[in-house]
Amino acid sequence: MNPEKLCELAKEAMTHAYAPYSGYRVGAALLCADGTVYQGCNIENAAYSPTNCAERTAFFKAIYDGQRDFAAIAICGGKDGVISGLFPPCGVCRQVMREFCGEEFIIYMVTPEGYEKRTLAQLLPDSFSL
Ligand code: THU
Repeated sequence: MNPEKLCELAKEAMTHAYAPYSGYRVGAALLCADGTVYQGCNIENAAYSPTNCAERTAFFKAIYDGQRDFAAIAICGGKDGVISGLFPPCGVCRQVMREFCGEEFIIYMVTPEGYEKRTLAQLLPDSFSL
């Protein structure tokens, strides 16, 4: 699947966000090695800390389904669902990516003009992994 299509699926996922507290709507589309795509959105909570990020929603759906081999993820987000710039993954999500992916895993961050591409090694250097 090309990056543009994966980014479109992340934008579609963003419309599923449950974000009544921050107003930031976030979407992710996770591409597995077999071509399957898992979409995720952020899911907030009145107690704040139970909030789940879009990236982890996508990963946890995929892991539950038995997927273990991942190629790339596209991420987008913005206040009220308006993409005004990069929406980089938080540190917790980067570590979850590292749990299941090598340092060559690709991250596409959607921008108003298109996307920016990074590897997990770039976003999480000297990462911790067992
Ligand atoms: N959020 C994500 O979904 N992914 C990230 O990597 C960063 C933050 C969500 C959590 C919360 O619902 C909102 O963005 C504002 O922090």
